[in-house]
Amino acid sequence: MDDTARSTQANDTVAYDGLRDWIEKVDGLGELLRVDGAHWDAEMGSITQMMTEKSRGDAPAILFDNIPDYPQGFRTLYGEFSSVRRVAMTLGLPVEYDRKCDIVQRYHERMQSMELIPPRIVETGAVMENVQAGDEIDVLKFPVPRHHEKDNARYIGTANCVITRDPDNGKYNVGTYRNQVYDAKTIGCQITEGKHGRIHRDKYFERGEECKFVILVGQDPLLYMLSASPLPEGVCELDFAGGLKGKPIDCIKGPYTGFPIPADCEIAIEGVARPGQVREEGPFGEWMGYYSDDSVPRPYVEIKTILHRNDPIICCAPQHKPVDETGLLKGIAGAAEIWRALEACGLPDIRGVWNHEGGPATRFTAIQIKQRYPGHARNVLHVAANCQGGAYAGKWTVVVDDDIDAGDLDQVLWAMSTRFDPCSDIDIIQKAWASKRDPLYLPGNFNNRILVDACIPYDQYLKGSFPPVVDVSEEMRRRIRAKFDKLPFPAY
Ligand SMILES: Cc1cc2nc3c(=O)[nH]c(=O)nc-3n(C[C@H](O)[C@H](O)[C@H](O)COP(=O)(O)O)c2cc1C
Repeated sequence: MDDTARSTQANDTVAYDGLRDWIEKVDGLGELLRVDGAHWDAEMGSITQMMTEKSRGDAPAILFDNIPDYPQGFRTLYGEFSSVRRVAMTLGLPVEYDRKCDIVQRYHERMQSMELIPPRIVETGAVMENVQAGDEIDVLKFPVPRHHEKDNARYIGTANCVITRDPDNGKYNVGTYRNQVYDAKTIGCQITEGKHGRIHRDKYFERGEECKFVILVGQDPLLYMLSASPLPEGVCELDFAGGLKGKPIDCIKGPYTGFPIPADCEIAIEGVARPGQVREEGPFGEWMGYYSDDSVPRPYVEIKTILHRNDPIICCAPQHKPVDETGLLKGIAGAAEIWRALEACGLPDIRGVWNHEGGPATRFTAIQIKQRYPGHARNVLHVAANCQGGAYAGKWTVVVDDDIDAGDLDQVLWAMSTRFDPCSDIDIIQKAWASKRDPLYLPGNFNNRILVDACIPYDQYLKGSFPPVVDVSEEMRRRIRAKFDKLPFPAY
């Protein structure tokens, strides 16, 4: 790897301006695929899966145009985050790394050093180019995909941003929660128990009040990434995006909700859900790779306005059997949140955190530490499995020593196979925060999960009595590279 790639954007600020500029920059990186003529009925989702499933972190972003039944220019974008370089570019970080965990560490450090910057309210913006209200409202004016072959409906919101307002303190939350289309004026919004948008909605409904929503279905990729990340309760993703960009996000005031709506977003839907009003939602191809959640009655959103740019782009991220395009997003953004929590709890010498894409992602988390005291590994396991970034629907949490790269599954498996005793190195957490997306969720919607200590036993680690590893020393590696500089050794 050359130093230019490492130090690109070394000041760590986001260097693109909105979705359309992001697409241009991705094209410049050689990572944009343009596809014409794919149908909205399962073809776009299938193409994306076939391009992504075996790509190992370098699949292209795919911009679909000339979608049958729709005007040219009404586009969809899939696969925003199926490459490490695009995640890094979006976060304003250098684009090349030696280890996957290095980008997590860099993002984690960036988060610690930044200030939240609230949005700036502006009079108007590109999203106001077209405004639908009343009888004009028609969500199927856009090429809304049916993503998977067994989905029962078209879903306009997958890589979306759902904005809700806490009735207690007026703070906004932005979360990624899917939207099934029922008809021209009605969509679903599936929000799992415990998610911040769900807590907001539950609070309104408990008081017998309606809950207003703004749903962006095409927007700056940074905002989508943050809205799909487990940021702490009370932190607004719009403020966080402003912080990472070093300037406020320009927002208009939604004509129906009064909520802030990014002025340059592609499509914003305003609407309302009412207590007791539900419709069957799903089944939909779920993030764990199964159609595991049947059709369930859920609150729906009655659309009040649709604002959109000319030639709008719907952002999409249907999930499927691993590896899907969200593996890296959760691998990086989710892992950075776990890293933050571990340090906030005072746990020293965290050297790497990674959510493994095949798990998928948050179901299999590996943490790399330099052991400092007996019990250090267990401390790390319990905090990682129970903090905001790790608590939801996890299954495996594994801790490894600092000579094991937590982002390298081969090395993690080796540690689990050679430094781990099945009787003494496991803890089980029972009745944890689960998801019905899990085909093995327990009655009451709990799950059990396993913590695996794959570190060398601390006393042997301290005494140096664990057998030495068969490996080429750093000194020998340097000497060999210098002497045989024409040999095609991998860069790292
Ligand atoms: C592509 C994608 C789709 C998602 N769909 C949903 C969904 O339909 N419902 C849900 O509760 N969470 C969904 N999530 C997970 C949440 O977005 C994630 O847990 C996020 O942290 C929620 O925001 P919050 O922490 O502010 O509640 C999805 C994540 C991704 C990446």
